[in-house]
Amino acid sequence: MMKLSHILVMLLWVGAPAIAQQLKAHTSFKPGQIWTDTDGKHINAHGGGVLYHKGRYYWFGEHKVGGRDGNKAMVGVSCYSSADLYNWKNEGIALPVAAENSGADIEKGAVIERPKVIYNKKTKQFVMWFHLELKGQGYNAARTAVAVSDKVTGPYTYLRSLRPHPGVWPQNATNSHKTEPIAVADKDPEWEQKVAAGAFLQRDFEGGQMSRDMTLFVDEDGTAYHIASSEENRTLHISKLTDDYLEFTDEYVRVFPGGRNEAPAIFKKNGNYYMITSGLTGWAPNAARSAVSDNMMAGWKELGNPVRGTEGQKSTTFESQSTFILPVQGKKDMFIFMADRWRPENPIDGRYIWLPLQFEDGKPVLGWQEEWTLNSGDKKRGKSPNSSE
Ligand code: DGJ
Repeated sequence: MMKLSHILVMLLWVGAPAIAQQLKAHTSFKPGQIWTDTDGKHINAHGGGVLYHKGRYYWFGEHKVGGRDGNKAMVGVSCYSSADLYNWKNEGIALPVAAENSGADIEKGAVIERPKVIYNKKTKQFVMWFHLELKGQGYNAARTAVAVSDKVTGPYTYLRSLRPHPGVWPQNATNSHKTEPIAVADKDPEWEQKVAAGAFLQRDFEGGQMSRDMTLFVDEDGTAYHIASSEENRTLHISKLTDDYLEFTDEYVRVFPGGRNEAPAIFKKNGNYYMITSGLTGWAPNAARSAVSDNMMAGWKELGNPVRGTEGQKSTTFESQSTFILPVQGKKDMFIFMADRWRPENPIDGRYIWLPLQFEDGKPVLGWQEEWTLNSGDKKRGKSPNSSE
């Protein structure tokens, strides 16, 4: 009989090349493929956002598990770090869920989506906001929540969740919003029009506005904005945060009323703000939209679907949904479009679609790349994704 120790040595010897192969450093992006971290495991940071701090990128995202309950927060918000954007080290759970049945907002089994972290230069704190749905309430709570840490990788201390702007009208509310209540019933044939006209803005005036898919954006002057799908996902609300980034100010605007925009992602280039969003179809992918304004709080103009490619790619955004737009450090005007290819039946298997954002006639555009590097981006930047060059 072979000794157990001999068997172990043999197994290690046979398995070693496979492990070495798996842990080989990545030198390119391969959108949609399994993306292993430096431990060889598929990165688990869905609906994510990236913060650059002191020479490293930090990727925060939803930690998902397998199977049906996998879209619920069973563990918390994960954090990975990288110096080169290809190779990511698992930094652990930045914000852990609270104990099951503790009654805490972020108890195990709640829904925590699209976490984004920003750094406040004045307070020297890292501030995380995320979409929160309370346990057992489906998507009815529609809250945003905030946590804070002195250390980028956490642990983050949970502060509170809220519905923004109770008792406050948006800056672009009209007189009729304030004085003429719009009644809307569940099966109202004019439901969409009435909601676009502000029926839910009025309904939620006292208690605070709904807040689901969200992102954050910090401007060059340090002002931070919270951008979220509100009014039953029909209208975006853009809100200014307070100087410490921990609260909402009373300044907010409605953008694209009735436009059904989800998954907002924002970047700034040459003084213009650009936004990419998705439409509203649950976990199923749909066609992306883009918009521009030279003022975060006014004047947003639609630019259409940014995707260039086949009809299938255009109608599904390469089978994905936007989550963040990442400015690449040291590369002027290079931005990476980050999106999720959701796998709702087995969420842990969700894939990441990272593509270089290019510009065509002043509009952001996206083309498919099977594999690419930050340097291949150099050649193509500013060119149409379909250009033959
Ligand atoms: C689409 C959103 O963008 C996701 O973040 C998630 O909330 C799903 N809907 C849930 O159906």
